[in-house]
Amino acid sequence: MKKYIKEIFAQPSLTEEIIVEGWVRSKRESAQVVFVMLNDGSCLKNLQIVLSLENTDENIIKRIATGACIAAKGTLVASQGKEQAFEMQANTIDILGEADAEKYPLQPKAHSMEYLRDIAHLRSRTQTFGAIFRIRHSLGFAVHQFFHQEGFFYWHSPIITASDAEGAGEMFRVSTLPAENPPMNEEKKVNFKEDFFGREAHLTVSGQLEAELGALGLGKVYTFGPTFRAENSNTTRHLAEFWMIEPEMAFFDIKDNMDLAEKFLKYVIQFALDNNAEDLAFLNERFEKENKAKKKEEQAEMNLLEKLNFVVAQEFERISYTEAIDILLNSNYHKKKKFNFEVKWGIDLQSEHERYLVEKHFKKPVIISDYPKEIKAFYMKQNEDGKTVRAMDILFPGIGEVVGGSQREENYEKLKERTDAMGITEQLWWYLETRQFGTAYHSGFGAGFERLVLFVTGMGNIRDVIPFPRTPKNAEF
Ligand code: 4AD
Ligand code: MG
Repeated sequence: MKKYIKEIFAQPSLTEEIIVEGWVRSKRESAQVVFVMLNDGSCLKNLQIVLSLENTDENIIKRIATGACIAAKGTLVASQGKEQAFEMQANTIDILGEADAEKYPLQPKAHSMEYLRDIAHLRSRTQTFGAIFRIRHSLGFAVHQFFHQEGFFYWHSPIITASDAEGAGEMFRVSTLPAENPPMNEEKKVNFKEDFFGREAHLTVSGQLEAELGALGLGKVYTFGPTFRAENSNTTRHLAEFWMIEPEMAFFDIKDNMDLAEKFLKYVIQFALDNNAEDLAFLNERFEKENKAKKKEEQAEMNLLEKLNFVVAQEFERISYTEAIDILLNSNYHKKKKFNFEVKWGIDLQSEHERYLVEKHFKKPVIISDYPKEIKAFYMKQNEDGKTVRAMDILFPGIGEVVGGSQREENYEKLKERTDAMGITEQLWWYLETRQFGTAYHSGFGAGFERLVLFVTGMGNIRDVIPFPRTPKNAEF
C-alpha cells in the first residue's frame, strides 16, 4: 500500500508492507547497511530507510544519491537509533529519477537564503521552505474558512482593469500592441483604441473597487487574489506581485471594520498554531538561532511561538493618527534626534515611526485611524473635521503595516469632488453610480497575505514566503 510519510508517522503499522515515494535528503553507509533519509513533502519529518548491503544490488545503492527520487517498498520496524522510534526495512528500491549527487545544488548542509532564492525551482525540497509553504497553505485555507464562517461570499474581482484603484499610478500595462512601431494617434501618442481592450489596461493594484460593488448587493464579500504594483521598492516587505485579502462589508462603520480585522488576524494565526505545530516548532528553532546571532539591541525579546501566542492573546492598541504623532513628538527618540525623517502632523508615517510605536512604545499590534486626507486614497470617508479620513492601518511588530483599510465615502457629492480633483470621474462612472442608487455606509480592508506569512513564519524577507517572488529586475522561474 502506498503511504505518505505524514500518514506513516500519524499511524505507524509494523505489520503491513508499504511503499513510500520521495526524494533522498541524505545517505549514510555502515559496514552492513545503508541509511537513507527520505522526504516526500507531506510533512517536515524524514522517514529513515534501511537497506542491507548484502541483499541490495550495488548499482542501485550507487544510484540512491542525494536529490534522487526513489520508491521504497518494505515494512516498518522498531528503530535501534535514538533519533526515531521506527524506520523502514526496505526490500526493494526503484529509482524513479536519477540525480548526480555532486552536481545537485542542494547539498546536505546549511545554505544561505540568498543562494536558495537563486534555486527557487528546488528550494521547496528543503526543510525550511517545506515548512514555510505548508504554513502558507494553512493560512490561505484559514482565510476562506474564517470568511465563510462569518457569512461572507468569495467574490472575484478582475485582474485586468482600466482603473487605478489606489490612484498611485504604480501599474503594469497589459497590451497586445507591438512593442516596435505601435499605432499612433493624431497627438503622436500610442493609440490604445487599437489595443486589445480598445483602451489602456493594466494589472490591478487592488480588487477593492469591484469588491465594493459586490458588497452593495451581497452585503459581505471578500476577494483573495494576486495584485500587482510597479513600485520600485527593493525592501524586505515589498513584492511586485503579492496576494491580498480584501473583505468589503455593507453596514459596517470604521469600528466594525477594525473589530473584524483584529478578529481575522487572530483567527488565522491561531489556525496556524493549531494546525502547523511541527513546522512552527522547526521555524521557532531557526528563529532562536538567528536571533542569538544578532546584536544585543536588535534581538527580539520573544521567540516566534511566544510572539504568535502573544498577538493572539492581546487586545490591539487603538489610537488616532493625531495621537500617534503626539507620542512620537514626545518620545525620547525624537528628543535625541534618532528619527531620520521629520515628525509633524501631516507626514506619511515612515517605517521607523511605525516601528517605534509598535516595538518600543506599545510593544503590541497597533491600529492607527483617522489619517490626514492628503496622504490617503480618494475613496476614504471624510471626517467632519474636514482634515482627516476614516482610514485605519494595522501595524505588527517586525513587519509594519499588515492591514490597510477604511470606511468608504458613500456620499456622492463628496466622492465626486475627490474623483474630479484626480480626473478619474469619467472612468469610474460605475463606482460613482453606486452612490446615486441606494448608497449605503460600508467599509473594508486589505491584508497583505505575504506580510501575514512573513509574520507567522518569522522569516526576515518577503521573497522567502512566496514560491516564486516577483521583484524589480527579477522574474526568473
Ligand atoms: O494599504 P494598501 O495599499 O491598501 C489597498 O490596496 C486597499 N485597496 C485595501 C482595501 O481597503 N481593500 O494595501 C493593503 C495591504 C498592505 O497593508 C500590505 O499588507 C499589503 O497590502 N501590501 C503589500 N504586500 C507586499 N508587497 C507590496 N508591494 C505591498 N503593498 C501593499
Ligand atoms: Mg496602506
